[in-house]
Amino acid sequence: MHKPHIPLDQIKAEVDSCHRCPLCEGRTQTVFGAGNPNARVLIVGEAPGKNEDLQGVPFVGAAGKYLDELLGVAGLKREDVFIANVLKCRPPGNRDPRIEEIECCTPYLREQTRTIDPEYIVTLGNFATKFILKTEVGITRLHGKLQQAGKFKVFPIFHPAAALYDGSKRVALEDDFTTLGELLRAGREQDAQPAASSTPDAVSATAEEGAHRGFEQESLL
Ligand code: URA
Repeated sequence: MHKPHIPLDQIKAEVDSCHRCPLCEGRTQTVFGAGNPNARVLIVGEAPGKNEDLQGVPFVGAAGKYLDELLGVAGLKREDVFIANVLKCRPPGNRDPRIEEIECCTPYLREQTRTIDPEYIVTLGNFATKFILKTEVGITRLHGKLQQAGKFKVFPIFHPAAALYDGSKRVALEDDFTTLGELLRAGREQDAQPAASSTPDAVSATAEEGAHRGFEQESLL
């Protein structure tokens, strides 16, 4: 039997009062996520940084400005997508998320995903990609290759912050967002076609990666 989906405002209330891990002690506020609750695309980043912690909104710093540009490359605006993070609280000094923090926090991301029910999950960087795909394969190998996790199409892309430190990543980021736009448009065209016609299945084209195991059925679907 399917669990009913929890309304986003109820999940947000739980996040706002969360004390599951010590990150709650250092936060100004939680960063639940923002955007279109009926989005076709859920974008998953890593964790709030300083600006996000102060404003309570994901991707508002330098990486966020660049993300807005990249969304434009795919023909998207912020209002079209929902943006969330693996962690809802800022790790001190922007250090990497710890395994126990990911374990405490990701039930919220699971519920957000079930409720938003996107067609695509775009994972930005290693932490989001490894969590969503349950893989140890890194983003350098997986970026730009469409994957599947349960019912969701997953499109891993470098984290936009990576390009702020390493300009050579910009080309890959822009290429991958171009591909994302093409996938979204192809899906729309396919929806408008009679049932007999089909477009190439990019998901199966990358199945040989064999790197992903998907979410546990009972936890996400
Ligand atoms: N980096 C992230 O991964 N998430 C944010 O919200 C901001 C920067």
